[in-house]
Formats: sequence, C-alpha cells, structure tokens
Amino acid sequence: MAHDESAQGLLKESSTRRSRSSDRGDNAAFDSDSDLDATDYIDREAARPTRRSPTASFEPNTKGKKRSCSCLFTTLGRRSKCCIGVLAGMGILWVLLTATGVFVYRKAQEEPPYGQSPPWYPTPKGGIAASWADSYAKASKMVSKMTLAEKVNVTTGTGWEMGLAVGTNAPAIHVGFPQLQLQDGPLGIRFADNITAFPAGITVGATWNRQLMYARGKAHAIEARQKGINVLLGPCVGPLGRMPAGGRNWEGFGADPYLQGIAGAETVKGIQSEGVMATIKHFVANEQEHFRQPWEWGLPHAISSNIDDRTLHELYAWPFGDAVKAGVASVMCSYNQVNNSYACGNSKLLNGILKDELGFQGFVMSDWLAQHSGVGTALAGLDMTMPGDGLGWADGKSLWGPELSRAVLNGSVPLERLNDMVTRIVAAWYQLGQDDEKKFPRKQPNFSSWTDEEKGVMSPGSPTEQEQVVVNQFVNVQANHSVIAREVAAEGTVLLKNEDLLPISRQGLSDERLRARRDAVERATGKRSEGKFKVGIFGEDAGPGNGPNACKDRGCNQGTLGSGWGSGAVEFPYLVSPVEALRKQFDKSKVELSEFLDNKASFGKGDGSLNDLELCIVFANADAGEGFTKWADVSGDRPDLRLQNNGDDLIVKVASSCGGGTGDVVVVIHAVGPVLVEDWIDTPNVKALLFANLPGQESGNALAEILFGDTNPSGHLPFTIGRTLEDYGAGGKVLYLPNGVVPQQDFKEGLYIDYRHFDKYNIEPRFEFGFGLSYTTFKFDNIVVIPQRRKTQYPLRRPNPAAEPPSYSTDIPSKEEAIFPPEIRRLEKYVYPYLDSTDDIEVGQYPYPDGYDQQPPLSEAGGDEGGNPDLWSNYVVVNVDVINDGPVAGAAVPQLYLQYPETESETDFPVRVLRGFDKVHLKPGEKKTVKFNLTRRDLSYWDVVAQNWVMVTEGPYEFSVGLSSRDLSISGTW
Ligand code: BGC
Repeated sequence: MAHDESAQGLLKESSTRRSRSSDRGDNAAFDSDSDLDATDYIDREAARPTRRSPTASFEPNTKGKKRSCSCLFTTLGRRSKCCIGVLAGMGILWVLLTATGVFVYRKAQEEPPYGQSPPWYPTPKGGIAASWADSYAKASKMVSKMTLAEKVNVTTGTGWEMGLAVGTNAPAIHVGFPQLQLQDGPLGIRFADNITAFPAGITVGATWNRQLMYARGKAHAIEARQKGINVLLGPCVGPLGRMPAGGRNWEGFGADPYLQGIAGAETVKGIQSEGVMATIKHFVANEQEHFRQPWEWGLPHAISSNIDDRTLHELYAWPFGDAVKAGVASVMCSYNQVNNSYACGNSKLLNGILKDELGFQGFVMSDWLAQHSGVGTALAGLDMTMPGDGLGWADGKSLWGPELSRAVLNGSVPLERLNDMVTRIVAAWYQLGQDDEKKFPRKQPNFSSWTDEEKGVMSPGSPTEQEQVVVNQFVNVQANHSVIAREVAAEGTVLLKNEDLLPISRQGLSDERLRARRDAVERATGKRSEGKFKVGIFGEDAGPGNGPNACKDRGCNQGTLGSGWGSGAVEFPYLVSPVEALRKQFDKSKVELSEFLDNKASFGKGDGSLNDLELCIVFANADAGEGFTKWADVSGDRPDLRLQNNGDDLIVKVASSCGGGTGDVVVVIHAVGPVLVEDWIDTPNVKALLFANLPGQESGNALAEILFGDTNPSGHLPFTIGRTLEDYGAGGKVLYLPNGVVPQQDFKEGLYIDYRHFDKYNIEPRFEFGFGLSYTTFKFDNIVVIPQRRKTQYPLRRPNPAAEPPSYSTDIPSKEEAIFPPEIRRLEKYVYPYLDSTDDIEVGQYPYPDGYDQQPPLSEAGGDEGGNPDLWSNYVVVNVDVINDGPVAGAAVPQLYLQYPETESETDFPVRVLRGFDKVHLKPGEKKTVKFNLTRRDLSYWDVVAQNWVMVTEGPYEFSVGLSSRDLSISGTW
C-alpha cells in the first residue's frame, strides 16, 4: 500500500520546504531574526513578553545582539579584547553548531532513522460526523455569506496583546460571528482576578477520580464563561512525561497515555458541558522545554522529536484520541518539530492522523507563534493562527491575515481550504451552543490580561494612541469552587510511607498513643517529655513566603508551592499555606507548635534546640515550568530530580535533630513531578511521606484533612519515583545542550517510558506508578472476565461518512473584498485581513508540496469522530470485587493492567499497560464490584505495516487488577 514506506514511522517533510509567493516561509524566519546568535539561549527570558512588561513585548530576544554590538564599538583596552574574544568564541561556536547541524541534518536525510513519512494532502474536510451534522449545516449557511476578509478574520489572531484575552481572532460582523476570546490555561483563568486557582493537572491525575476530573473541568468553564471567555486553552495531555524532569509535565495528568486520555477526556467533557470550547494541547511530543521553539533558546529552529509510528500512536497521540472522541472543539499544535517537520505544518500529523484517522471535526489552532509558514501550514491542516503575529511577538506581520487573503486571491491556498478552516471554527462555535447570546453575550471579556487597573486600552500591543476604557470589572466568579479545588487537592495527595504514625489528631496523639510514645522514649533515653504534645513545622514550603504571586507567571520557587510556572499558572486569589491551616487547626490547649519556616536548617547545630520536639513535619519542594522563563538553575525543565532550595539537607537535619533523633518525622513534598527521596526515605524516624503534588489555592486545608484523617488518603502516583534519574533510561533525559542547529531528539526507547521502562528492564523503583497508601486496607476477590464480542484481528471496515461536508462555490472572490476599507481607523501592528493594494496579485500555477496530488488512502482506523467507531466498542468486561478489610472508611483505586498474549510474531509488547481504573468508596467491611470495560483500542496495538489497530487473536490476554502497577493480586484471562 502507498503507506508502506511510512510504515516504520512518521514522515520527515523537509522543514525547509518553501511554497508560493505569498508564503513567508522558513526563509523569512531566518531573515527576520538572523542577527541573533546561538549563545542567546542563555538569555532567553527576554524572548517572550509577559504581562505588564509592554516594552519587552515589542522586543524579541535582542539582549545578545545588543551586547555584541556594543562590543564592536568599543575599540580600546581590555574590554575590546574581551569582546573580540567573545565574538570569536561565538563565531567558533556558531560554526561548530552549524557544522554539527548540517551533519545531523544530512545524516537524517541519508538514512532517516524514523522512516520517510509521506505527505498527507489535501486536508480532510470537517463535517463527516453525525454528532456534528447540525452544527455544520448551520455553519455552512453562515460561512457562505462571509466575505473573504471576514473568513480570514475568523482564522487569524489580531496579534499579541491586541485584545483583552491572550488570544483573539476577529469577528465576521455582517453575518453575526463574534470575536472569540481565548484564554489559558489548564488550571484556572490566567491573568484574571477573582477566580479559582485549581490544583494542577498532575494533582488531578493523582486523584484517579473521574468524577473529580469532570467536576474540575466544569467549574473551570463556569468561571471562563462568566469572565467572557469562549475558548479555554486546556486541558494539557502533552507533554506526556517521557522525561521526569520535563518542565511542563505538571500541566498534564501523568506519565501514561491511558490515564492522560481519561483525565483529558473527562476534563473536556466537564468544560464543554458549560458551552465553553476546550482545547486539547500540545499536539504533539512537546516533551521538553529546552529548544521548544526557535530563538527562545538562540537557535533558529525548534527541536525535532523523532518518533516512530507505533510509539506515536500508542503513547503520544493516544490521549488526543480520547479528547477527540469526547468531542473536543479545538486542538493546539505544538511548538516543536516532529520528525523534522514543525507540528503546526506537519501534514501527516494534522491532515493524516488528526483529521482523517481520528476524524477530528473541530479546528486546529497553533500554539503561540508555533506557525512558521503561511501557505504551508494552511495546506498542512492548520485552521487558526495564534496570536496572529508572524514570526516574532507583537510584530504585526502575520503569516496569514493579509497574506492569507493574498494567497486565496492568487490561488496558492485553495478557497476550499479557507472555507474548511472557517467552517470548522464556526461549526465548533455552534456545536457548543455559543450562538445563544444569553449564555455567551457578544461582549469583550470583563477582565484584561494586561493590567490590574480598572481602566486601560483595548489593544495595549499597539503603539497607536487609544482611548482609556474600563477593562477590569473585577467580577467574582469563584462561587463555591474552592470546595472542588480542595477535594482535588486532598484526593490528589499520595501517602507514600506510613509507619503507624498517620493520621494524627488535632490534639496531637490520643492520650493512649502519647503515653505509649513517651514511655518508649523514656526507656530509650531516660528522659520523659511532659505537658503539651510538641510539634515543629519546618521548611519554607510550609509557609507563605512573599505571597503566592510574588513572581511573574509564578516563575520562581519561594514559599509554599501551589503550582508550576508559565502560561499554565494563574494569579492566586489566595493560597492557604500549610502552616496557616495547621496553626488554625491544631488544638492549642494540647499542642505546642514551633515554626521554622526557612530552609537554612540553622537550628539544632549541637545546641539541642529541637530536643523537645515529638513530631516534626518538614516540607520541601521542586518546581519547574514553561521555558520562557527560568528560576535559579531551572530553565523550564529541571536540571535533576532533586528537591530544591536545599530540601534534602533540611529533611536530613530535621530527622537527626527532631527530639534529639527520637522525634517522629512526617515529610510533605510539593512537586511538579517525581523527586528522589533516597537521602532520607529509609531513616527510621522518617515515619511518613505525603506527596501532595501541586495543590492550588486550598493547599493547607487539603493537607490538614489528610493529616488529621478527615479524608482518608486515596491519591496514587501518576508517575514512577525512581531511585536515580538513570533508572528512567536514556530516554528519560532532557536534552540540555543542542546537538545541532535543529536539535534532534530520537525517542529511541519507543514504548518504554516510565513504568513500561522499569518493568521491561526489571528496575526496582522506589515507588511504582499507581502506588498510594490508605489508612485502611483493601483486598480483591472474584475476578470475572465476560467477553462481549469475538476477537478479530482488525476493526470493522471504516464506515462511510455519516454526513457530507458543506460545499461552497470555488470561484475566487473579487479582489475588492480584500482591500482596506478607507473608513477603518488602523491600529499599528494590529493584524487585519486587508491589503493596501491587490494590483500585484496574479492567479497562477504555484508549486504545491511534494505529494500534494497523491491523495493517500483514507485510514482504516478512521471514519468518525474519534476514529473507527469499532475501536470504541467494548470487547470484554472484567468485574472484580473490592473489599475494605481495614479499620476505617476509605477509597480504593483498583487499577487494571493488561498483558498482551505471547505471540510468535516479532511484535514486542510492554510487560503490562494500564487499561482501566476506578475510585471506589468503601466503609469498613464493605464490598463493591468494579466493572472495567475494555474497548478494541484498549486491546490492540498499532501495526505499522497494516496501518491499523490490531488485536492479537491467538493466546490469552491477561488482565491483572490491584492497587498499583506492581501490586496486582488478582488476574483473569481472555
Ligand atoms: C503555551 C501554550 C499557551 C499559549 C498562550 C504558549 O507559550 O505553550 O500552552 O496556551 O502560550 O498563552
């Protein structure tokens, strides 16, 4: 079949492909910024403008450039020598990098390690799914009345900081299509006041609770709607977490595609139940921050994540499939390249996988400045460019906007393609019921992303003078969402170690426990503590620090850690620190509290100042975030998996000094991902470890619930905690130094990330994926496997489309439609769809990308929203009884792992993969039956030759159920 060569992997479309006259393609990228150099990657904080720094927002990363220019003009003395040296050094580095890049690039062309991926053109049109048919019919009526300029308006952002939200397109006024307001992010409404700072995605993943996933999404969307937002830029299911130190893993739900898929889909459903469009992001393989986009790190191109076809399907694209099946309105393509083609211009990814195979009916939006060519991206399947600027922040030189008008007029972008882009966006708007003006009044957001003042201008990104108007109405949309935030934070707290210590009570210990404890200490030391129970709270992470919003975009680690940093963070309305909650809740008549809220560990150095303490609760953390800013040595991605701010040292010292070594220690960790605990986990008086992830605004309250046993911990790890970073394998390492002008990151480990890697190589983790303790115990019984359908190798044939995409006239519109209307008052740098003159536009025969004329066969895995419907049919049901056989009520997280049958074929399978989970609340002694539905997709692997999901028909599948990926006490076969 035509795809055979692609079978081994995805394509490698030339990233240097140029298209038509109107295409400000990759050449332009070099031209516009060519004065920057590779050394800029250390200075990249200046590269991305952030809130309330308008000057920065107009200046791309010129720091490096300015420095070298001033060197050139310094002619005398040591400084000039130094400058010449620096320049020479930079020159040599540049030559070396270029040479390496050329070498790597050539090599890649000679023998592409991931196969030659075919181009996939033309873009499948939206409108084939029954579930969207009404919306497409309505959209078609509206789009057919739009002018060319209106259509372009709908597809193109108006530019960075040109509206009140982080992204705005422009309206199609005459037909009644409003300007859409797009806002980050996955854990709350970014840059807004009076909102809820929910726990981050990773904490949600750790709850393993579908209802909470949905509820958080819904509450988030209520707030978005009430703030005037149409499109939420979340949830995030990529990065998946290939590298445990990856900077943005915390925005997603955990290092497993199944968990990400369910959590992503539930969040999408929750958000969209309120009529707000969800955006699933970042498609795909944006696994690290280093080199994620051009120039941010000084290199002219973004990193290429090189992935084989099977791994792409079974790991990285998998959760996007769930989101599409859940009806997601929008998909954000990512910054990075995939197999050396930018994700937002990669026709195999967007046209082939997303729109054909997964049957995505909504629209593809670029990440902010992730578009690198005009015509190329349009043909490759991009539908909306954000924020609308071209290759630099706030430069106003869009790759679409007027250039898209030109491209349609000269025929280099087929009108059909533009019509499909617009129809997809308008259909999504109808699909979510946003035409209902009562729910979505056609107004601007009631807050501004760019100022906290009541008044401001509507387009602060433009230097044109503008009228001051009310931009912040300070509308409180929090309702009672703190309850959900707190529930997620509490259920997302994972108890990793507990040696008969937790829960404690607000009175400290019961009289009986306290007496026993004091007797034991007396026996050991000859000293007896009297009076109140003496508790110490340690660590900067327990306290408020300088307040939760002390650093822009939360880009520093100080005070207690409630979220990571970047576009995924919000302005905290408040953050209940652990110490605040504990101070309030401990019974002062029984407990004496001492606080040591810094990490200097300057106590107890031989002076015995902690000798009296009987319980020490010590807090430490590890932070990371989006690559546009850095803190200490954390440049987005963490440099290692250690606790930060001297955390390990603090814990070790507290453990040795607490009660002179006899005190009990509880360690609490807030972190963006796995941290190493080896320095202290086996210390005998470290009796308990709570891994609280990133809890959001209700941090302290949620923690207190767990410590005091109001809520029985039921969080489970959404990733593996290894003993060293090396344990995660070579694929687990961030690429910190560029290995070429286009850094190449080969995902050679294939399917073997996180627990799949630990299982395959028999590496004993410290705490395995899925692990989490409770104050009670559970057991399993009575597994029953009930087949629902017969095993067959392939899914049923791809169905014919249930609906016909709309069709429109293909006559190229009149040039007049794109001419600047004289009455418009133009704002400088604002992106309009208009041209000053169309005189030079000639309709012509422009070269289309290679392979444009050879429509590849439609995927047998496709055919409807979410792909071939048979992939979603249940083929087998597994029922298991779960019993609470411990002393108190609690919630179990039964997890089902599948083991593929052993085959004679060469297909390699992971030892086990997660394919089901649930959360079950049980009173002591209570039993409930849990039901796991396994779909065809759950039971299949991606066959690169057949280019389809294939079920193994010989030999039994094994289903093991238990409380973690390594605690599987019961199993059945099919
Ligand atoms: C991030 C996206 C975000 C966008 C808008 C980008 O830098 O990667 O996740 O939605 O900015 O703020």
